[in-house]
Amino acid sequence: MNETIQKNLGYKKYVIDSKLQYFKPHASKIEKTFAEEISSSLNRDSKFIAPKFFYDKKGSDLFEKICTLPEYYPTRTEIDILKNLHAELPSFIDKSFRLVELGSGASVKTRLILDIFTQMQQTTEYFPIDISEILTESSELLLQDYDNLRITGIIDTYEGGLEFLKNYDEKKNLILFLGSSFGNFSPSDGKVFLEKINSTMKSGDLFLIGLDLVKDSQILESAYNDTQGVTAEFNLNVLSRINDELDADFNLNNFSHYSIYNKDNQRIEMYLKSLVKQSVIISKSNLSLNLEKNELIHTEHSHKYTLEQIRTLLESTGFKLNHVWLDDNTHFSLTLVSKN
Ligand code: AVJ
Repeated sequence: MNETIQKNLGYKKYVIDSKLQYFKPHASKIEKTFAEEISSSLNRDSKFIAPKFFYDKKGSDLFEKICTLPEYYPTRTEIDILKNLHAELPSFIDKSFRLVELGSGASVKTRLILDIFTQMQQTTEYFPIDISEILTESSELLLQDYDNLRITGIIDTYEGGLEFLKNYDEKKNLILFLGSSFGNFSPSDGKVFLEKINSTMKSGDLFLIGLDLVKDSQILESAYNDTQGVTAEFNLNVLSRINDELDADFNLNNFSHYSIYNKDNQRIEMYLKSLVKQSVIISKSNLSLNLEKNELIHTEHSHKYTLEQIRTLLESTGFKLNHVWLDDNTHFSLTLVSKN
C-alpha cells in the first residue's frame, strides 16, 4: 500500500491508484477504543461484548459463511428482493447519485445495486464504510469486474464514516444499509442512529434499509443455531480476537454458543456461556474477569420488525417512505426513504 499523503479529520488517506483510495483513522485510536470498551462491558454484573467486535478478518469470513447456510434465510431472501429492484430503483435515482454503503462486507448484494448504477452512469462512485479491513479486499475484486467504478473506502465505524462523509462534498448519495445490520441496535439506540443518518443526509439523498421481519420462532432460532456450528464458531471467535488483540487468555473450550428468540422483545439473543467457574486475564483492558459456571456473556441482539413498526420507526426519525419491497413469504423487507 502506498502510504499517506494527506491528513483529514484524524484520518489517514491511502491512495492505491486512480480508481481506489481509502481513509482510515489512526490505528492507535481504534485499539484504545476496543480495550476500553471491553474493559467496561465485561467489568459488570451482566457482561457483554458488543457485536461490532465480531468482525475481524476471521469473523468477517465466518459471517460470509453464515450467509450461505441453509438455515440462514435473511441473505438469500434479501438477494432475491434486490434482484427485482432492477426494474424499479432507476425511477428513484438519477445519473448524479453516488452509492454509499454501511457495513459493506464482500457481498453479492452490493453488486446487484452496482449493476444498476454502472449501467446508468458513465462513472460510478462507490463509498463503502466498514470497520473491517475486508473492505480493501472486496474493493479490489469489485474493480476487476466494473471498468467504470471509482472506490473510496472508509475503514471506520458507521458513525465515524457518516460524519466523515457529511463534510466531504455536495454529491447526492444513495446510502445502503442492508442485511438487517440495523437489528443489532436497541430500539432507543436505533432511533438515535437513524436520526444521525437523517442529519447527515442532504435533501435529495436516499436511504435504503434492509430489515428482517417477525416470523415463526422455529425459523428464527434455527437461523441462529445452525447444524454445522458456523454460528457457534462465529460467536466464539470474538474471544479469540480478544486473546490476540488484547492479550487475554480465554480458553475457548470453556465456553459454548447459546441463542434464543425472545418473543416479547422481538429479538434473537446470542450469548457465550461459561461452562465452568473460571477466571480470565485481559491484560490490555487491565481486567481480571471472574465467571461463574453457566454465567452468560451477552454478545448480540438481532431485532425483528413488523411492517407497521418499520413505518413508524422511519417516520418518527425524520424520513418519508418512498417504497417497500418484500419477498413472497414476507420474511424480509427493503425500504427506500428520503429526508422528510
Ligand atoms: C449482521 C447483524 C444482520 O443479526 O442476523 C448472524 C449477524 N449473528 N448470525 C444477524 C448474525 C449471527 C447478523 N447481522
